[in-house]
Amino acid sequence: MKAIAIAHPNIAFIKYWGNRDQDLRIPVNGSFSMNLDGLSARTQVTFRADLEQDSLILNEKTLQGAGLQRVSQILDEVREVAGISLHAQVISENTFPTGAGIASSAAAFAALALASSKAAGLSLDEAALSRLARHGSGSACRSIPGGFTEWQSGESDQDSYAFSIAPPEHWDLADCIAVISSGHKAIGSTQGHALAATSPLQGGRVADVPRRIDICRRAILERDFDTFASICELDSDMMHAVMMTSNPALFYWQPSTLRVMQSVRDWRAEGLPVFYTIDAGPNVHVITPTKKMREVKDKLANIEGVDNVLTATVGGPTRLVES
Ligand code: DP6
Repeated sequence: MKAIAIAHPNIAFIKYWGNRDQDLRIPVNGSFSMNLDGLSARTQVTFRADLEQDSLILNEKTLQGAGLQRVSQILDEVREVAGISLHAQVISENTFPTGAGIASSAAAFAALALASSKAAGLSLDEAALSRLARHGSGSACRSIPGGFTEWQSGESDQDSYAFSIAPPEHWDLADCIAVISSGHKAIGSTQGHALAATSPLQGGRVADVPRRIDICRRAILERDFDTFASICELDSDMMHAVMMTSNPALFYWQPSTLRVMQSVRDWRAEGLPVFYTIDAGPNVHVITPTKKMREVKDKLANIEGVDNVLTATVGGPTRLVES
């Protein structure tokens, strides 16, 4: 009873920040993202009769405690649906550098959802896999379908899942990730979601989401880069305004983060098609048409405080692989 799955992380264009149900990860607003090809998590799950408990090896290190517990919760769900009681060995590896500050939980839980359900003999459809991945990490539900994906917030566990709105080949976009050196460990997303409602700005951010979602969806479908750029930057800035004004306040930006944001705006004013978007950390994701990826990567690498630049194009869905 073994299966291996590969999943990509994703970068959000309209951000998920705050849950209406923190345990089930039902978000207060819908979101959009694209999967990142070239970066991936590969996860192998084996259910075995000789195991007394679940085990997790992540990038060749054995994990216990909260990390293992989060994985076991997904395995419990799979065991219940499949009607089995065997424990599992989970071995997961990321192909992107750990410690580079790129959130890996989305790819990890998407791969875990597919590999564990398959290993248990289940054939879940895409929506069911997306829901299962969501229980491990909200943004993971968007890594199950391929290309450009929308997570409909839904109102219950059943209707909160992601689907593809366009395949990877729909639009040749690249993400140049400016990795910024950061001295301290930031507060993780899970804690951050729980604080979102303490910001007096969260209500305004959420109320305006349907408008931003409509603009973003249309911009993606029509490949309208200028509209896409301005709505995505606005959405990212609004989320960070909420973070900075929550209690306690979360400041993810470093001085170099701002240097990159300013440069990206300057380059766009000079005619280069680029925009920035930032998740719960100091790194800046700079989106540009693939034909400009080299140029943007080189420009970013020259900015003070940028450690290195990772690049990715639009990725496909979470998939099974042979061992
Ligand atoms: C800022 O999905 O990492 O990247 O559900 O607690 O695992 P958990 O949170 P997570 O939150 C992602 C937040 C974000 C925005 C986004 O990806 O939409």
